[in-house]
Amino acid sequence: MAGTFGDDEITAIRAATPGCTDDLIHLNHAGSSLPPQRVLDIQIAHLRREAAIGGYEAAAEAADRSAAVYDSIAALIGSRPSEIARMEHATAAWNAAFWSIPMERGQRIVTHDHDYGANRIAFLRAREVHGVEIERIPSDADGQIDIDRLAGALSRPSEVAVVSLAWIPTSGGLVNPAAEVGSLTRDAGVPFLLDACQAVGQLEIDVEAIGCDFLSASGRKFLRGPRGTGFLYARDAILDRVTPSQPDHHGADWVALDRYEFVDGARRFEYWEHDHAAWLGLGAAVDDANELGIARIHATIDERAEELRARLRDVGMTVHDQGVERCGIVTTTHPTIPVGELRERLATGSIHASLTNPGSARADLEARGLGSLLRLSVHCTTTSDEIDRTLAVLRIL
Ligand SMILES: Cc1ncc(COP(=O)(O)O)c(C=O)c1O
Repeated sequence: MAGTFGDDEITAIRAATPGCTDDLIHLNHAGSSLPPQRVLDIQIAHLRREAAIGGYEAAAEAADRSAAVYDSIAALIGSRPSEIARMEHATAAWNAAFWSIPMERGQRIVTHDHDYGANRIAFLRAREVHGVEIERIPSDADGQIDIDRLAGALSRPSEVAVVSLAWIPTSGGLVNPAAEVGSLTRDAGVPFLLDACQAVGQLEIDVEAIGCDFLSASGRKFLRGPRGTGFLYARDAILDRVTPSQPDHHGADWVALDRYEFVDGARRFEYWEHDHAAWLGLGAAVDDANELGIARIHATIDERAEELRARLRDVGMTVHDQGVERCGIVTTTHPTIPVGELRERLATGSIHASLTNPGSARADLEARGLGSLLRLSVHCTTTSDEIDRTLAVLRIL
């Protein structure tokens, strides 16, 4: 693993992030992180140009920078720029992919307990619309998707419409073995839709090594981009097998009165209208991450999250994170104090935490016999001093 950032480097990253102040401790990077100043600057500058000269004219001025965002994202995940579609958020990206996949009555959607709530709703809807079945692969002893059971589920590939996996779930520090899943789906020739919403920005991503056909991501979380941004990776080779479900005249060309043709590449999943300032801001966030180096961001997050887990156990909290490999999401409960109250008390000390509730992670929480969890998520900007101060609040409890 790459080296962690040194104290001086963390101080510099914090100094370039306006939300990193002594007055608040942000432990909600899995919800929405704190963007670097450069993200803010490019967004605000573009909004000013839109106000000054008009939105279409400002977009024309920024066309090269806007196009370069695809290159930046492609460099981040090891794809071609043409395999990236601009999206408003991870669920929009995931849905664009999911609803493009052909499904026949009786086929199965194969998934894991850790799939995100929105994705689960889509499975239930697909069961109503297509008559497909939902097959839940259980977790192994470490909480990861049970790879042997998945191999069994793929033994008759024609019966499986798609394999869907949350690389990192909303409900804990688990990192699922995405590349092992990709190796099985590739051999079986079954589409693999990877939810990388919580992974992008904190894990190194190489879509070739993973072997996923689709990858959905949000900009505002570990990537430190603006709210209302995300992207979809769609492998070139999958495009002949899928059909965007709701194309517009940007994703498809209206070539004759009664005929359209999809445009090349992943852009067939996009809509024409979008928030140009936010997209440019996302580009700045991705450039920032690429320049800092995801490997070092990952190493630093990892070290800080393990430090937090150890300290929480020291004060009698229970840590619920599973996995052989873990990430910057830390979930915890107190033996007697409800999580809502914990969160309130932290908020009183200007410490931002969030809760994971059954509505977003029901299958996982029910399988583990858990209710809501307090979720503390760290980034490479989180310091040991902030962890000390957080623990000081929890210790008094
Ligand atoms: C694992 C996972 N997938 C998908 C999503 C949905 O992301 P978005 O709110 O950007 O649509 C989330 C949001 O927290 C998530 O944690």
